Amino acid sequence: MVVLISGTGSNMAALVDAAEDPAYGVDVVAVGSDRRGTRGIELAEKAGVPTFVVPFRDYSDRAEWDTAMADRISGYAPDLVVSAGFMRLLGPAVVGRHAAVNIHPALLPSFPGAHAVRDALAHGVRVTGTTIHFLDEGVDSGPIIDQVAVPVEDGDDESSLHERIKAVERRMLVDTVGRLAREGWTVDGRHVRFGRTEHSVTDATDTKEQR
Ligand code: GRF
Repeated sequence: MVVLISGTGSNMAALVDAAEDPAYGVDVVAVGSDRRGTRGIELAEKAGVPTFVVPFRDYSDRAEWDTAMADRISGYAPDLVVSAGFMRLLGPAVVGRHAAVNIHPALLPSFPGAHAVRDALAHGVRVTGTTIHFLDEGVDSGPIIDQVAVPVEDGDDESSLHERIKAVERRMLVDTVGRLAREGWTVDGRHVRFGRTEHSVTDATDTKEQR
């Protein structure tokens, strides 16, 4: 798989660690980013994983950037793209070519967007959490694969709550991505099941929804 990040990359690092065990069933073939010089890219380089950066501002519009990103990703021929703290919306070039999952620090469909933890706190919810879902072209709108709840504690601020969510997120991400790789998946409308359909293993028309 190719992992996409924009910042510190703690979720990516958890995947790279898990992938060191051959029984996990996943190879991280590259880590990509839209930003140069991030801690996440540095961590990936230290771990010996190939990296690439496709900065948004190097392209004249979103479509051009999306195509450049898709071309870099396709160069590694991944079975799965994992957006783990990647803070840009991936467009049709990436999502149309590759099966891709995203983690989001809230219980979708509540609090989509870039400020999910802040928005959940401001709304006064007592329970929030994290969601892993397939990417479509919307904002945090694709079919949900798994969710884990995290209680909000009195006195939480955005940073304390986000850190507790991220601890839960890393476990869920590692567990879910491993299962997708080892068991395959089937998407039926908004419903995701682990396991291949009976036709998907040998069928040459294998689609990104049926691995
Ligand atoms: C995670 O909470 C993820 O859900 C959100 O951004 C954060 C990334 O953290 N989209 P890290 O870069 O993996 O440490």
